[in-house]
Amino acid sequence: MNYQVVSEESLNKAAEIILNGGLVAFPTETVYGLGANAFNPHALAKVFEVKERPFFDPLIIHIASIDTLEKAADLSLLNEEKRKKLFLLAENLWPGPLSIILPKNENIPGIATAGLQTAAIRFPDYETAQKLISLSSGAIAAPSANPFGLLSPTRAEHVRQGLGEKVDLILDGGPTRIGLESTVLDITGECISILRFGGTPKEIIEKLIGSVHVAAGNEDVNAGLSSPGQLKSHYAPRTPLSLLNQEAIIEQPYKPGSAFLFFDASTRNEWLSKQNPPKMAVIKVLSGSAASLEASTLEAASCLFDNLHELDSSNIKHIFAQSAPPKGLGEAINDRLSRAAVGSAYQS
Ligand code: TXA
Ligand code: MG
Repeated sequence: MNYQVVSEESLNKAAEIILNGGLVAFPTETVYGLGANAFNPHALAKVFEVKERPFFDPLIIHIASIDTLEKAADLSLLNEEKRKKLFLLAENLWPGPLSIILPKNENIPGIATAGLQTAAIRFPDYETAQKLISLSSGAIAAPSANPFGLLSPTRAEHVRQGLGEKVDLILDGGPTRIGLESTVLDITGECISILRFGGTPKEIIEKLIGSVHVAAGNEDVNAGLSSPGQLKSHYAPRTPLSLLNQEAIIEQPYKPGSAFLFFDASTRNEWLSKQNPPKMAVIKVLSGSAASLEASTLEAASCLFDNLHELDSSNIKHIFAQSAPPKGLGEAINDRLSRAAVGSAYQS
């Protein structure tokens, strides 16, 4: 049995597996990660193999204290100003859903960073992850624990469905709190850039370090990706999906075999009164109970992948999804939904 609920015993076992070069799927506050010892190239190779992930796509290195940062990164290669910004970010946003691209320490094998001289480093805000990291190698390289290109797992059950027995141990810590991957921020270039929208909104980063460039969602896929998370079709459910704004979804007639994924209940109600769908129609609302816009994007982010996983394992032929208000986490939600929509045309 490669599946255990988080406990002192299972954490110790998981740490031993990591130290022996094995793979452990573990919960973080964003999504489940597929972890390996960040200093062991053989273990890292297994991560790529199990995920069927191309070797050009670098992994995120997870640490559990600021003191270990320099084991993974070489901060001497940052100038004074960048170092200041890094410490501002780390002090205020770590632990948390922010991965920062830094010059890599030479101890990190090239396979972890796909040959790049930089490494994405993250300090997750989840006790289980922190304990696993500090009980084992001090730094764990972990991509999301899903087959490459598919939806990230927000529950241990998703990992079991996607990767099954290929993982030495799946640690079940319940559903993840944020439900979307971390924001990836590159501070090594001339300007500081967001490479992937995620759990830390751009506004929060800009309050600390001033305005940042956005390279996330780069349309020109062939121009050389600075972050393969920018691949246009990524984070995709198997079911085709159309992304519609509020006005468009209200006008979208119900089609047999389709599901509707609304951002908010009032848009759903308007749609219901206009389209009068049959009783068996599959209708979901991402932010059903939230009181404010901020609370509603949080709620929607936390259950987005759950809903997509569920629709993917039912008989739904097409998903019509409403975009989120493009503020705070809404940007990350829209980013994932628009990638899910790539290559999806409605087929009746
Ligand atoms: O929330 C998360 O970030 C989750 C949990 C498990 O921590 N991890 C995750 O990892 O989403 P993954 O491998 O699915 O996504 C990592 C992203 C990819 O888009 C990758 O291209 C980018 O980070 N990345 C990693 N290292 C990079 C580097 N040195 N330069 C540019 N992009 C990098
Ligand atoms: Mg991933």
